[in-house]
Amino acid sequence: MASSFRSWSSGFFFLIVLISAMFIGMAVGYSRVPAPAVFRPSQWSQAHATFYGDETARETMGGACGYGNLFQTGYGTDTVALSTTLFNSGYACGTCYQIKCANAPACYGVIATVTATNICPPNWSKDSNKGGWCNPPRVHFDMSKPAFMKIAQWKAGIVPVMYRRVPCVRTGGLRFKFQGNGYWLLVYVMNVGGGGDIASMWVKGSKTGWISMSHNWGASYQAFASLGGQAISFKITSYTTKQTVIALNVAPSNWAVGMTYKSTVNFR
Ligand SMILES: *[C@@H]1O[C@H](CO)[C@@H](O)[C@H](O)[C@H]1NC(C)=O
Repeated sequence: MASSFRSWSSGFFFLIVLISAMFIGMAVGYSRVPAPAVFRPSQWSQAHATFYGDETARETMGGACGYGNLFQTGYGTDTVALSTTLFNSGYACGTCYQIKCANAPACYGVIATVTATNICPPNWSKDSNKGGWCNPPRVHFDMSKPAFMKIAQWKAGIVPVMYRRVPCVRTGGLRFKFQGNGYWLLVYVMNVGGGGDIASMWVKGSKTGWISMSHNWGASYQAFASLGGQAISFKITSYTTKQTVIALNVAPSNWAVGMTYKSTVNFR
């Protein structure tokens, strides 16, 4: 009797363990389901910041990301050129940063939020710690002068900063500026929200399937394909969040080079 009770209770105990294990397994399984692809701010890190150009920010126009006139494309003067280390061959174009001057008399204690629109190239004729601020492997921010003037007295020239990646807050959808011709489409992607960056991209004409685009430079992607006379759709994957969005029929069949087409989709 006692032994049968023991075997019953141990069997019951075993069942409880099994059910618990199932629930724990399910919980672990659920936690592996990707969280909603929303980009969250990174940790604060140390770097330095300088500025380029004057208070009109004229020199920041036509930067390496290919955004052209930053007033027309909506980025304005709150922009930054990234050192090669941060620039990541242009994949960092469109990413957003909060930058605050830290531990220097010139600091204002104000946070500036800026978008990466340019590269700060290395200058190997200068020492990395004496003028060659953007030489790899330095992490450096060469801000527009108006943005720098928000965080520190510009006469300081260079200041220590704390920075972090933050989600890009954009109004409206992704924008696509078309270059190239009927056989080669080069597209600049602008107004990217969330992570602000792009890992890969596909294009689809109304008479084609999805065609993989290659990264050209800055924020531009290209496809060597005959897409003239077709309505154009794009599929875009975020570099940071890996989220993919589809912008269907962004451009009409009579699309033209030089035009910018607006979609209704964006990253968060
Ligand atoms: C690099 O630094 C040297 C020395 O100051 C300067 O003459 C030169 O113009 C700089 N080059 C670039 C590309 O800025």
